[in-house]
Amino acid sequence: MTVQPNGHLKGQVAIVTGAGSGIGRATAIALARAGARVLGVGRRAEALNETAARQPGIEPMPADITAGGVPQAVVEAATDRWGRLDVLVNNAGATAVMSLADTDADRIAGLLALNVTAPSLLAHAALPHLRAGRGTIINISSTYGHRPLPGAAHYAATKAAVEQLTRSWALELAGDGIRVNAVAPGPTESEALTAAGLPDTVVEQIKQDEAARIPLGRRGTPEEVATWIVHLADPAATWITGQVLTIDGGLELAP
Ligand SMILES: NC(=O)c1ccc[n+]([C@@H]2O[C@H](COP(=O)([O-])OP(=O)(O)OC[C@H]3O[C@@H](n4cnc5c(N)ncnc54)[C@H](OP(=O)(O)O)[C@@H]3O)[C@@H](O)[C@H]2O)c1
Repeated sequence: MTVQPNGHLKGQVAIVTGAGSGIGRATAIALARAGARVLGVGRRAEALNETAARQPGIEPMPADITAGGVPQAVVEAATDRWGRLDVLVNNAGATAVMSLADTDADRIAGLLALNVTAPSLLAHAALPHLRAGRGTIINISSTYGHRPLPGAAHYAATKAAVEQLTRSWALELAGDGIRVNAVAPGPTESEALTAAGLPDTVVEQIKQDEAARIPLGRRGTPEEVATWIVHLADPAATWITGQVLTIDGGLELAP
């Protein structure tokens, strides 16, 4: 499924973190097709360049969003270039297979830094600009932000945090006309499992197991998630805030 350009985001400026692959790449492309100018952020310049090459309107910014001062620099890069910021998509994130028996402090700190702290500091830096234009924040959670995930409890806990940030900021910022929502994808084709350091055979097994558990019988595509991010970003979505939209082929309801 591809998002049809509707032009509703024409003139708007968006930041998408993790735009070099998976859901972030599909989102950057879909937002640009809908008329937005998009700053695509990630650590790998070549991956971002490939995203930008697929659709005009995407400006790559290679950066590690967990590094000191980077969230502020990312927001300034967008506002210096285009003079405004309307949409922040907090997409960059990582998973980790880590049972309690194998839990260690550095990996917990790494997950929190990327999945919770960086999106918070990006939203903080974006706030004056979002206030000025009555903009919107879209955070990326997971089915496992609200379902238990044995063997990866800390990943699930960071996504539960993302969902509570979403609901709390929605109330905190409603008076400013800023909408804050989240999407919670189920298992989606991307680089996430490989990026978690899992060997190919294990990745393949996880994918098969996930597809078998999903009521619609398959894993999702990044475009099937991006289309809902674009809907939530659309200024026409004027009356939705504080919601977590699960997009997972029915997985969250499965026994
Ligand atoms: N795929 C799924 O099954 C699934 C399910 C539920 C939720 N999600 C969530 O969806 C979001 C997108 O993940 P994905 O599935 O599309 O996986 P992905 O392909 O691994 O994308 C993650 C992106 O984040 C970027 N990134 C990682 N660390 C970064 C850092 N420190 N600074 C800047 N960028 C960084 C990566 O690029 P670089 O390596 O170049 O930095 C990469 O492009 C994540 O929040 C993930 O938790 C995914």
